Amino acid sequence: MNIYDYPTLYDVLFSDSWKREIEFLKTALQHYCNVTEQGRIFEPACGTGRLLWRLAQLGHNIVGLDLNPHTVAFCNKRLKRHGLPESAILGDMTHFSLNDLQQKKSFDLVFNFVSSFLHLTSETAAISHLHAAADVLKPNGIYLLGLHLLPRGNAVCSQEHWAVRHGSLSLQSQLRRLSFNRQQRIETVEFRIKATTPKQHYEIIDTFPLRTYSLQQFQSLLKKVNRFNVLETFDFHFQSPVQLNSQTEDVVFVLSATNKN
Ligand SMILES: C[S@@+](CC[C@H](N)C(=O)[O-])C[C@H]1O[C@@H](n2cnc3c(N)ncnc32)[C@H](O)[C@@H]1O
Repeated sequence: MNIYDYPTLYDVLFSDSWKREIEFLKTALQHYCNVTEQGRIFEPACGTGRLLWRLAQLGHNIVGLDLNPHTVAFCNKRLKRHGLPESAILGDMTHFSLNDLQQKKSFDLVFNFVSSFLHLTSETAAISHLHAAADVLKPNGIYLLGLHLLPRGNAVCSQEHWAVRHGSLSLQSQLRRLSFNRQQRIETVEFRIKATTPKQHYEIIDTFPLRTYSLQQFQSLLKKVNRFNVLETFDFHFQSPVQLNSQTEDVVFVLSATNKN
């Protein structure tokens, strides 16, 4: 089972935080890019586009990219329903260009929250993604990259639970680590969603690999890629600055694109 094949459930599960995420995106666009209207915004690994359609409603030009045809279809259907251009594209965030994204002009801002970057399980894929993101940004354009870092001495059985209710649908989810290969920097996680409606009860269980980064490993990656400067850091509630040390876990890095070497 692939959890992303159930975009309706995914969308409800991540529906609680959109207000603060949209506020942060609006503030970042204004503060770092000096743009208040018609910003050019791109989200790699956009999923259901739960933030993109809201940004489009605010008058911004948005593009999304995702590997999963179900989430791309869901995203475009919602954009269409709101009378907005269907600008989600099926593709891999490891390789993309303005041409692939059907764009002529580069972006003011790229964002990727909720650790989607960790789906890139090799160093090569991560490097390729960061180069592609820098290539589609204007000079000094901003990449807001949120990821969960692995704190030093992390215990092997970490897990998270949360529950959401939407009308008569109630969801309970659990994300837990099944195994961790420290040498290969791959953790295998299990994601379970239990869905209950008045008429049925079902469960979706998916297992997938994520790449792990300590703060130092992420900083070395940025140095190797040499296309971004870190301007600021925020936590997942968009409070700044984050104390960056070996125990830091949730960080949104504000990365400013530098010119190509
Ligand atoms: C945790 S979801 C995040 C979705 C969205 N960014 C959000 O904030 O709700 C991760 C998404 O990454 C997508 N994904 C995973 N690997 C990908 C890849 N190599 N290229 C593009 N999308 C990918 C999945 O299909 C999924 O929709």
